[in-house]
Amino acid sequence: MDMQKDCVRVAVRVRPFNKRERDAGSRCIISMVPSSITIQDPRDPQNRRSFCFDYTYWSHSGFIQDDTGKYLPEDAGGRYADQDSVFHDLGEGILENSLQGYNATLLAYGQTGSGKSYSMMGYGANKGLVPKLCERLFESIRENQDTRRCQVFFSMLEIYNEQVIDLLFRGSRAAGGLRVREEQNRGFYVEGLRTVPCETAQQVEQLMEQGTRTRTTAATHMNANSSRSHMLISLQLKQIFSKESTTKQSNINLVDLAGSERQRSSGSEADRLKEGLAINLSLTTLGNVISALADVAVGKKVVHIPYRESILTKLLQSALGGNSRTVMIATLSPADICYEESLSTLRYAERAKRIQNRAVVNESPTERLVKELKAENARLLQRLSRLGQEGRRASDETKEIRQLLTHNELQIKAIQTLWEQHLQEALKDLEEQYANITKERRMMQMHPYILNINEDTQLSGVVKLFIQEGEWDVGRSDSSPKSISIKGLGIQEHHAVFRNEQRRVTLTPVAGAKVIVNGNTICQTTVLKHMDRLILGSNCTYLFIGFPSERGGDDWNSYDYDYFQAELATAEGIHIGDQSESSLGSNQTDPSLLAVFYDYIKLMPMVTEANQMSRELNKGVEFKLEIKNLVLSDSKGHDLKKDIAVRVTTLGNKQVWMWSKAKFINRKFLMEEMYQQHQTAQREENVPTFARDQDPFWDPVEPLILGTAHLWLQTLAFRIPLEEQLEVLGSEGTEEAILQAQLVPCSSTGLPLSEDDILIDPSELLGRRLDFQVVLEQCCGLRWIREAHNRGVQVGFKLFDCSQPMYTPAVWHNINPLLDHRVHFASLQTSQSLLDYLQSSAVVLELWGLQDGCAELTSTLDEMIMTSDGIFIIDKPGPADSGSLDCDLSSSFRVLQRELEEMRSLNSLLKKENQNLREQLAARNGGCSVRPSCDADFARALKIFYHSMTSVRAQLQRLRRHRPSEESDLLGLRFFVDEQSRLMRNFSEQLEECVSKLKQDVAAIICEYS
Ligand SMILES: Nc1ncnc2c1ncn2[C@@H]1O[C@H](COP(=O)(O)OP(=O)(O)OP(=O)(O)O)[C@@H](O)[C@H]1O
Ligand SMILES: [Mg+2]
Repeated sequence: MDMQKDCVRVAVRVRPFNKRERDAGSRCIISMVPSSITIQDPRDPQNRRSFCFDYTYWSHSGFIQDDTGKYLPEDAGGRYADQDSVFHDLGEGILENSLQGYNATLLAYGQTGSGKSYSMMGYGANKGLVPKLCERLFESIRENQDTRRCQVFFSMLEIYNEQVIDLLFRGSRAAGGLRVREEQNRGFYVEGLRTVPCETAQQVEQLMEQGTRTRTTAATHMNANSSRSHMLISLQLKQIFSKESTTKQSNINLVDLAGSERQRSSGSEADRLKEGLAINLSLTTLGNVISALADVAVGKKVVHIPYRESILTKLLQSALGGNSRTVMIATLSPADICYEESLSTLRYAERAKRIQNRAVVNESPTERLVKELKAENARLLQRLSRLGQEGRRASDETKEIRQLLTHNELQIKAIQTLWEQHLQEALKDLEEQYANITKERRMMQMHPYILNINEDTQLSGVVKLFIQEGEWDVGRSDSSPKSISIKGLGIQEHHAVFRNEQRRVTLTPVAGAKVIVNGNTICQTTVLKHMDRLILGSNCTYLFIGFPSERGGDDWNSYDYDYFQAELATAEGIHIGDQSESSLGSNQTDPSLLAVFYDYIKLMPMVTEANQMSRELNKGVEFKLEIKNLVLSDSKGHDLKKDIAVRVTTLGNKQVWMWSKAKFINRKFLMEEMYQQHQTAQREENVPTFARDQDPFWDPVEPLILGTAHLWLQTLAFRIPLEEQLEVLGSEGTEEAILQAQLVPCSSTGLPLSEDDILIDPSELLGRRLDFQVVLEQCCGLRWIREAHNRGVQVGFKLFDCSQPMYTPAVWHNINPLLDHRVHFASLQTSQSLLDYLQSSAVVLELWGLQDGCAELTSTLDEMIMTSDGIFIIDKPGPADSGSLDCDLSSSFRVLQRELEEMRSLNSLLKKENQNLREQLAARNGGCSVRPSCDADFARALKIFYHSMTSVRAQLQRLRRHRPSEESDLLGLRFFVDEQSRLMRNFSEQLEECVSKLKQDVAAIICEYS
């Protein structure tokens, strides 16, 4: 037996930018030299990491497309790695190994859309590893015909949600999928999986086509996302060498793994419900197995390798650390926005590289059996002849031996003819299928049809539903011969009607059925044009292909899944690009907005599906996409990071939750699981109930942030009071309420300061005590309460160096509640940084919504210093005893302060002296002053002006907020107009007064000094 240790070989491949990445102006952060790849952190370009692998493939640039659509290197010998060169390195090796009788495995790993299927299966003219491998396999079988007889068995399965689906089985499927069993000799295998004998590469291709078709319909029926499923193709090769009377058998496993992205990439918060257990159980376990094996390889003690914890790892046991020669191809997106995922793929691949396998040439157990049977027959024959020679009468024994011989012969025959029989059956089946395919091709040339478009490009264009002349019922029902059956979420029994009459196709929705054409919901009969986009039910997407005469040379590939969703978003008013009224951007779209837009169109169909599941399961909740922070900014006025969130509302008591993108995606998966269980149970008439705390549609209620308002602090630096009516804006720009707030500079006892205390130069505050109060008086017009009266609100805010927010007490059931909340802050020695903060920042006042049954928000005051009179101390000097640096800093700070004090007293002495000198000079000049400075007088006049302007501004705010009530009738409007003009009058009078006072003062000063 030939046994040797060999490591898993690892290749990495980087694909071209896709449309999204090009639109977003992405940068390529991957560079390669042979066998080594470097990735750069887009936020820190100095941070680069390099990895070495057995093979690296640059498929990012330097290519051209020939007439057949095949990608080739731009220049002969260019660095672009096309499908041929990848096959040359990886495929040939696998072929070689399997011909020698080794098991071989090829795994494709990488995030969704990174090119796994492209490398494995390929697209169009760019055939991937699997079809090329099959071609070459049958070629070498033909070449070696003289020395060996070969049998190839093909099987194709999918693992979704820990269920095994046989992709070659066409009957109705048992719930729960196929079982994985274990046998001592065979290891793990799938019980009852269809394995089809094949003799040509065309047959294999035909089977793969069938498998893809099954995968596509399974994905729509089960409302499943194909990039979460693993696809496993197995080729079993048996070689019978009659001369040597040996048999070699090898299994080739070709695995297109599920997208590797981590669902919780945002990483911010954990969901109450665990990540959908099976969401990627197989992938996580694969990772754990690989890690454990990598540890084994470096000599670490590993107690347990968790093969048994998932279906995938059971089936790949021999590929990983066992009897197989294994290759992994890790695929990467080159774009900066995929940095985290690409880095994680590279780390994963690096670990896989260390795994050591022990591959052996396999002797077929069937062949061994035949050998054993033959040996037994020889023994039996010998005994027979001995019995004959002995001439004794032993008829009983002879009879028994003869029986045994016949039995053995039959068994040998059975083993040998099994292949023939199987082959005959398979050929019949394949012929039938081939006839269907030919028929389909013919139909495509004659009739209009609809073509499925899937999120996974690999599954797009697989299903074609023909609309022949006459009237066709579309829906779940397939009872009549004139019906087109579509199963999927939100598809009704009878959903719509296609009519093909007078060389025109129309579509008419049945009442209550959701039908969207080119982004717009339709209710009436609509004429379809070639390449129209149809969405039936929640998210069954099809492209309409018109009559052959209507078709040009156009390519349907440009109408991909993203196109459908973007079109739908545009109809909702969310779009990017050149439309002037664009709600998300302008011509030069900001990449962060673009990312939000793509998230939006990614989540949009998922939200529709969640809503449909909620309706069907009677969950009474509704989901809606929102863009977080579309209009909001931070305390400096800078835009906040925009993100997608999902608003969840119960229809009955109007409870509301906001879910992050990651949480929604996780919940959606759990909902799908629940929905499928429900569907199965419904068929078995045994509808289960779910405990509420396990329900993905439910969460305990919690306070919800409704919006924010900014109270700018600049006036405090001048010790000028401020009264504002602030607009509280929701994250998408809706007015949630008006908040009346004040900033009151005060004494240490809380008495408001007078006009005389207004400062002209804020730096005078430095090193001195500053007291002020933040007053939140009232909230008006709370939309949150107007929507449902059983709710309440609180306002929270953080100031300067307070790390925890403070909250007002909760107020309930009132649209215009009085808050009457006053907090006194003091800084004992105002620092430059506090001064900078006051001059450039705002307090962000957060309006929180409370709902029936949720806990109120409380201020954590642990880290705050509060005096006995309830004053909060801010601008605390740093702790003096924390490390020598702080110590040094604070001692030099003290020295500086002392110096400052000294300079101040020196300054006031100098001022006094100056005054003295001036007086002396005046006396000498006969009592008349020589134009002494008028600054002080101007300053006083300005102070008065500033102060009076504060109330004018408040008046202006009042005027701005003054709006007619939503329900007002004509009388109400008249009253509003009267009130408006009164306010206007007041405002202009006050303004006039202030300005003329300033004019008078200035005139007086000029008179006095001129
Ligand atoms: N090397 C490449 N050259 C050209 N195009 C590529 C390459 N790799 C991938 N693509 C294109 O990128 C798109 C996504 O690739 P693919 O379907 O292979 O992704 P995937 O990794 O299988 O994703 P999923 O996990 O969703 O199945 C396809 O349209 C494919 O044509
Ligand atoms: Mg794929």
